[in-house]
Amino acid sequence: MEEVRNVTWHQMTVSRQTRELVQGHRSGVVWFTGLSGAGKSTLANALELELARRGIRTYLLDGDNVRHGINQDLGFSISDRQENIRRVSHLAKLFVDAGVVVITAMISPLRADRRMARELFAKDEFIEVFVDCPLDVCISRDPKGLYQKAQSGLIRDFTGISSPYERPEFPEITIPTDTMSVEQAVARMQADVLQRIEIRHGVGCKQA
Ligand code: ADX
Repeated sequence: MEEVRNVTWHQMTVSRQTRELVQGHRSGVVWFTGLSGAGKSTLANALELELARRGIRTYLLDGDNVRHGINQDLGFSISDRQENIRRVSHLAKLFVDAGVVVITAMISPLRADRRMARELFAKDEFIEVFVDCPLDVCISRDPKGLYQKAQSGLIRDFTGISSPYERPEFPEITIPTDTMSVEQAVARMQADVLQRIEIRHGVGCKQA
């Protein structure tokens, strides 16, 4: 590990691999992206419930919730969203080191920011889930009444209306929430997650 500004990385005795062996599964990230109202929080919540029922250690970092605490100083300019994603991706990295399957549910509208998050992780431990719902369906759902406010100019920089959303090019999973049920979506995502976090000795875990 390189030295950053005279700060040195300490390698602790209890490693991620040890934690994974003790708990019986590997860790990783399930990164949801999609428009407001597309169904990210609903799917993330349902996936976490299903994984937790199987005894898997999980933690859900939800955009709205994180913005109540560690990110309460951030707004919705491009640079604030970028900082939002940067902080949450580093939080996710800490959770992954702790052995947890982290689920993030943030719009994360820009490809470059999602790429930055992805690059913090190994290839097999990052699953990008594109919650794909047409803008007009999100507008008609408008669960928080925000699209209406954005369209009447009461909210600025609103994703899909006055701020960009870049569709993922190569997501691991795409869930079309206008045609697929939550149960179908969870089954699809769960199969992928379970396969990736399975401990295969000599593959995922070094000897503790
Ligand atoms: S992100 O773009 O930085 O990833 P994040 O997921 O954290 O966004 O927050 C999005 C949530 O904030 C939305 O679901 C919505 O409830 C709320 N919100 C408030 N203002 C805006 C806005 N201008 N654009 C998008 N979402 C907004």
